[in-house]
Amino acid sequence: MDLEKIPPEQPGLPFLERQDEAGVAERFAAYLQELRRCDQCRLRSGARRLVPGEGAPGASLMLVGEAPGVEEDRLGRPFVGPSGRLFERSLSKIGVSRGQVFVTNVIKYRTPENRLPRVSEQRACMGHLRRELDLLRPKVVALLGAIAARALLGDQVRLKDVRGTRIEVHNTIVYPMYHPAFALRNLDRDPQILEIFGADLRRACREAGLP
Ligand code: URA
Repeated sequence: MDLEKIPPEQPGLPFLERQDEAGVAERFAAYLQELRRCDQCRLRSGARRLVPGEGAPGASLMLVGEAPGVEEDRLGRPFVGPSGRLFERSLSKIGVSRGQVFVTNVIKYRTPENRLPRVSEQRACMGHLRRELDLLRPKVVALLGAIAARALLGDQVRLKDVRGTRIEVHNTIVYPMYHPAFALRNLDRDPQILEIFGADLRRACREAGLP
């Protein structure tokens, strides 16, 4: 399937043939140059930095979050704030390092005051996420939170219905799970939530052959 021909606003995971990592780094560098030039939405003008996905070119597991927060905007790297620390701690309990996976977001710029990204912004950014998927072709994709779940599984999907399930879309395995920020915010209400997050992450890692 030629990903360039898919309208960016179309939700859903594309069909991804597995590939080896030869050439991925160079093609990723070319993609980054295009991404830097993107002016499909207004977020770029209000943000400090572009926050593209990052990680191992041959990663079998890709984690997709929502949008950069304050720390990510400051450093130009995804998941480096409180959510990222929780996610890294949870990974390390499983015996996996951040460098073994690929981490990205649906939206590549911080939204004003960290508001929820608008549907138009998500649609404008969808082509970039598709490019990242096409470049990496991960075996497993972990969807962190409702925005990522809807972006790749369709607008009608409700996280509470799919969280913790294993979904096969074409030839990619998808694990929708809580967003780490949601887990942190709801710790008082649900003391089990970190364990649930960790267990979901462990299943996704195992399926991806990690550690
Ligand atoms: N940091 C990110 O990079 N993405 C999120 O969704 C939250 C925090």
